[in-house]
Amino acid sequence: MDDYVRLTYRGREFRLPLVAGSEGETAVDISRLRQETGLITLDPGFANTGSCSSAITFVDGERGILRYRGIPVEQLAERSTFKETAFLMINGALPTQKELTRFSVLLNDHSLVHEDMKIFYQSFPRSSHPMGILSAMVNALRSFYPELQNLEEEINITVTRLLSKVRTMAAMSYKISRGHTVVYPRSDLTYCANFLNMMFDSPVKPYELDPDVVKALNVFLILHADHEQNCSTAAVRVVGSARVNLYAAISAGIAALWGPLHGGANQAVIEMLAEMSRHGNLAAMVARAKDKNDPYRLMGFGHRVYKTYDPRARIMKQMAHVLLEKLRLSDPLLDVARELEAIALKDDYFVEHHLYPNVDFYSGIVLRAIGIPTNMFTVLFAIGRLPGWIAQWKESMDDPAWKLCRPRQVYCGPRERDYVPIEER
Ligand code: ACO
Repeated sequence: MDDYVRLTYRGREFRLPLVAGSEGETAVDISRLRQETGLITLDPGFANTGSCSSAITFVDGERGILRYRGIPVEQLAERSTFKETAFLMINGALPTQKELTRFSVLLNDHSLVHEDMKIFYQSFPRSSHPMGILSAMVNALRSFYPELQNLEEEINITVTRLLSKVRTMAAMSYKISRGHTVVYPRSDLTYCANFLNMMFDSPVKPYELDPDVVKALNVFLILHADHEQNCSTAAVRVVGSARVNLYAAISAGIAALWGPLHGGANQAVIEMLAEMSRHGNLAAMVARAKDKNDPYRLMGFGHRVYKTYDPRARIMKQMAHVLLEKLRLSDPLLDVARELEAIALKDDYFVEHHLYPNVDFYSGIVLRAIGIPTNMFTVLFAIGRLPGWIAQWKESMDDPAWKLCRPRQVYCGPRERDYVPIEER
């Protein structure tokens, strides 16, 4: 095979080098295209554009494969914990027992949030969306924890602080939004157990930790830990490329994740299923989703990369079923979800458009079973995605091919024209 592609333009031939990834995907390197030919490429939504080389996550959307650092997500969901997976994502290999113990100690040491930040929290209107609060508060962390002189120490401490504090901050925002007393982290609890305790413990009703619920939260977070160059990760890399501090870059990622076409979809799915449950007529809503003149879409269906069943959705569906059984709960929305999935998977439109349930389709059911309120769903996604954002940011900082992100455009506005004074317009 040639290791370049030929481009012919205005009678001249150019050779564009090919770059091969470790799983066989091949890219055309266009980094010198404009310099050599005067041309740029146009790719709205970057659907065909590789913005970096990355050794973190492998996704094959045609075959429904997802691996973190080479390890299938199914194995991690079954056998790992979120804390161990976070270490894997950020450091590139599973931790030894000694490394894991040290990591746990550091997470514990950094789990408290500066007391002055509580005042900030109390100033947000009660109706604020927790994602807006989280994004603002993560950005504010730089003011409370100024930069250290030693770069390596600065990065290590910032990473640990973020992983530990975001979890505390998420639980705090929930407690404050309800007017309840903030529950502090406990050193005797694991990462996920600690979060659940901070969310649900109360002075008048101690929270009883259930190992099945703790496991379900671990799996939920593992399934969200990274997904290569998705919208929020791209935001973290783009903002990070200006060499802002890590808190600011992560804050940008949280803002991007908030959108209903991205992480906000898990909340949107539950709202949609609840509406369908009230409405009853699923077929009519599926028909709406297929109507070209109607912007309505089935939330939790479709994905930019997966053109087959999202492997995370498969695990999440199974977990929703098992968890509800174990907790002896019944959720009418799970029945609606199953019915909707069955209708959509048989429908020509959804089949032809390769629209399958994505990770968000069943994740809301799992979160509801755990007791997480709907407006906190995307915050849980953000906690899960944090190790991925951090790993991607770190990788970009160490990348010898790193460049400030600055795309081009094809200008299609007016040609040069003169300024017209206001009295002559
Ligand atoms: N319901 C109905 N039709 C859909 C849906 C849907 N959920 N998703 C895509 N389509 C149709 C589009 O109308 C379009 O049809 P056309 O080609 O006939 O015009 C075609 O499928 C392609 O859609 P695009 O939006 O171009 O595909 P893209 O790859 O840009 O979209 C996206 C991916 C944004 C996720 C889309 O499928 C969607 O809006 N899904 C619902 C929101 C959602 O669940 N988001 C979560 C994604 S997973 C995550 O972020 C963790």
